Amino acid sequence: MNILLLGSGGREHALAWKLAQSPRCSALFAAPGNPGIAAHAVLVDLDLADHAAVVGFCQVQQIGLVVVGPEAPLVDGIADSLRAAGFAVFGPGKAAAQLEGSKGFTKDLCREADIPTAGYIRCTQADQALAALADFSLPVVVKADGLAAGKGVIIAQTREEAEAAITDMFGGSFGASGAEVVIEEFMDGEEASFFALTDGTSVVPFGTAQDHKRVGDGDTGPNTGGMGAYSPASVLTPAIETDIMARIITPTVETLAARGTPFSGVLFLGVMLTAQGPKLIEYNCRFGDPECEVLMLRLESDLVDLLLAVAQGRLAGAPPAVFSKDAALTVVMAAKGYPGTPEKGAPITLPDAPKGSVIFHAGTAEKGALIANGGRVLAVTALGRRVTDAQDAAYALVDRIDFPGGFCRRDIGWREVAREALAQAD
Ligand code: AMP
Ligand code: GLY
Repeated sequence: MNILLLGSGGREHALAWKLAQSPRCSALFAAPGNPGIAAHAVLVDLDLADHAAVVGFCQVQQIGLVVVGPEAPLVDGIADSLRAAGFAVFGPGKAAAQLEGSKGFTKDLCREADIPTAGYIRCTQADQALAALADFSLPVVVKADGLAAGKGVIIAQTREEAEAAITDMFGGSFGASGAEVVIEEFMDGEEASFFALTDGTSVVPFGTAQDHKRVGDGDTGPNTGGMGAYSPASVLTPAIETDIMARIITPTVETLAARGTPFSGVLFLGVMLTAQGPKLIEYNCRFGDPECEVLMLRLESDLVDLLLAVAQGRLAGAPPAVFSKDAALTVVMAAKGYPGTPEKGAPITLPDAPKGSVIFHAGTAEKGALIANGGRVLAVTALGRRVTDAQDAAYALVDRIDFPGGFCRRDIGWREVAREALAQAD
């Protein structure tokens, strides 16, 4: 089968690496792809906003499955355009992608379906938002409603900070994404990522991970798209997983199906483990980056089988997804300046990765030599028996990479490494 993968980051490199291993994959195309993806796929220069061009390419190449990596084309309705032309697509249509495209949409759905999440108010005017602050204690969370590449969330410690965030968002600092603002109650607890595949009717869990959002060691500094991750996240015990499936995911899938806008693809939840149990922080309508890198390294099942079963509405009859008992950990190497303005063009020399490790490309370009071409540049990923072993292997590989224009956190996995050390001492 011919497969088209849309996107160009570390998540898409991990998906390409895994899709290309399937005996069912005869030709893999990626648009626009990156130099790492080029090792597994033919790169195609398509504008993802030009749906007619993407559909036309699928017709010419007789594509049997389209896998959409990032959220922006999904929120823009690329899956609808492809489905209307008869193609099997992994990824939700525009209406269901609102789970990520509008935070207010998701909060209203949670209220309707009685899904545990932080209390909130949606505001379309600055005055209304400023007045609504009186109903919240500190800290308080202020969010731009729309897509903001992980940057539209402010956790305000003081009223002044909250007011400044509101003024800023309505003032246009997040463009159209900030035309509406959601004010939320702050939830305290440990955060984890949970994945589930659904074809709109059936739902199966698809692994857990923990991301590291802050740029600096010890979870300090500004938020990023994610500086590293490990999987599985042992804080999500089987009992908590069952609870999340029953009280958060299943009601979400059922509510969207009942509205006539079923969600087909991967649901990626940020969950807060609070004293009152797991609560939804947010939904994403695609795989996490860098969470996808660790999931793909641990996945033993054929990815094409699974994604095609989702795309064709046959998930109930598909064999269950099997993950290795081993852990995986990924360390993001970013270009200096990230998450502000990253320095582009720094040269990179990569060693061969040993068995069990993969260097995924995120923001690289090939200009005679390999160079940095984005904020997050590489995702250095390794397997190990425990997270501690995967961490050792990932950093051993990081230390062999020649990328003087880059930096990384040195403590990815620290929560789990501390738990493993405690368990060993017992
Ligand atoms: P989001 O883009 O909604 O995932 O928010 C980004 C980050 O902000 C999350 O990963 C959390 O760490 C934090 N966050 C968002 N909402 C809340 C909340 N209601 N309480 C505490 N932390 C939050
Ligand atoms: N790593 C967080 C995200 O992909 O949204």
